[in-house]
Amino acid sequence: MPTVIALLNSYAGLACSAMGFALDNMLLIIVGALDGTSGFILAVIMCKAMNRSFSNVMFGGFGQVATTAGGAVDDRPVRSMTAEEAAPVLELASSVVIIPGYGMAVAQAQHRVAELYEHLEEKGVEVKFAIHPVAGRMPGHMNVLLAEADVPYDKLVELEDINPEMPQTDVALIIGANDTINPAARDDPQSLIAGMPIIEADKAKTVMIIKRSMNAGFAGIDNPIYYNENTQMLLGDAKKMSEQLVKELQEL
Ligand code: TAP
Repeated sequence: MPTVIALLNSYAGLACSAMGFALDNMLLIIVGALDGTSGFILAVIMCKAMNRSFSNVMFGGFGQVATTAGGAVDDRPVRSMTAEEAAPVLELASSVVIIPGYGMAVAQAQHRVAELYEHLEEKGVEVKFAIHPVAGRMPGHMNVLLAEADVPYDKLVELEDINPEMPQTDVALIIGANDTINPAARDDPQSLIAGMPIIEADKAKTVMIIKRSMNAGFAGIDNPIYYNENTQMLLGDAKKMSEQLVKELQEL
């Protein structure tokens, strides 16, 4: 979607340039040409970043297959935990990587997540936030929300820097993220998101996922991470579940 928007911006520039020719206005021609070419170059760069061809983005039917109406597409069992069960695991961990996504933004859970971070740090747990460049629905979405909640900036780690640390991480705590941690992008060449860089949460020793259901994310595809043996689902709203985790940690 952002790629298509960049391309439409580019068309607006080209239309402006064409108008410049019709009106014999040099300024319109130059400004339109600059807007048109930069929008097109941006669209191509975004395609490369997603490892998808330009035609696939334009005509690929993103999000139209591989899921039922927003529901789970796999009958394999999943493991789940309550906040009461998850809190001691978090407290005993040496390192926790929190991976926020669109669900944290929708639930407006960033302040509760910041409290959770503070409580874990107080208990001696090393906490980092893994930031995927397209987590959420706009560039920098997670950075803005976490800054609003006063999470120290040096705790936010980019995808390429956090991935090498994931195998040594005790707990990956995923809060409302889905596509950005979907291992199918790495492991399944047939996946709609094949080749898209992901945060490799599945490599952590324990994976906890806070979301409301087994529903798909933006891309509309199932996520194999849910069925892994080291994954525990904490089903519920991101804000309420973070609140419950904070409450349980306070009581420990
Ligand atoms: P998504 O893949 O969209 O997944 C978000 C998940 O949050 C959903 O699976 C949903 O599951 C859960 N959720 C929704 N409301 C929730 C709530 N109140 N509490 C807890 N969980 C909740 O998110 P992502 O991993 O951040 O990936 C972003 C996606 O958006 C990517 O595919 C990206 O390409 C796309 N995109 C990004 C941008 C930019 S620039 N950031 C722009 C357009 C599109 P439940 O319904 O089960 O709760």
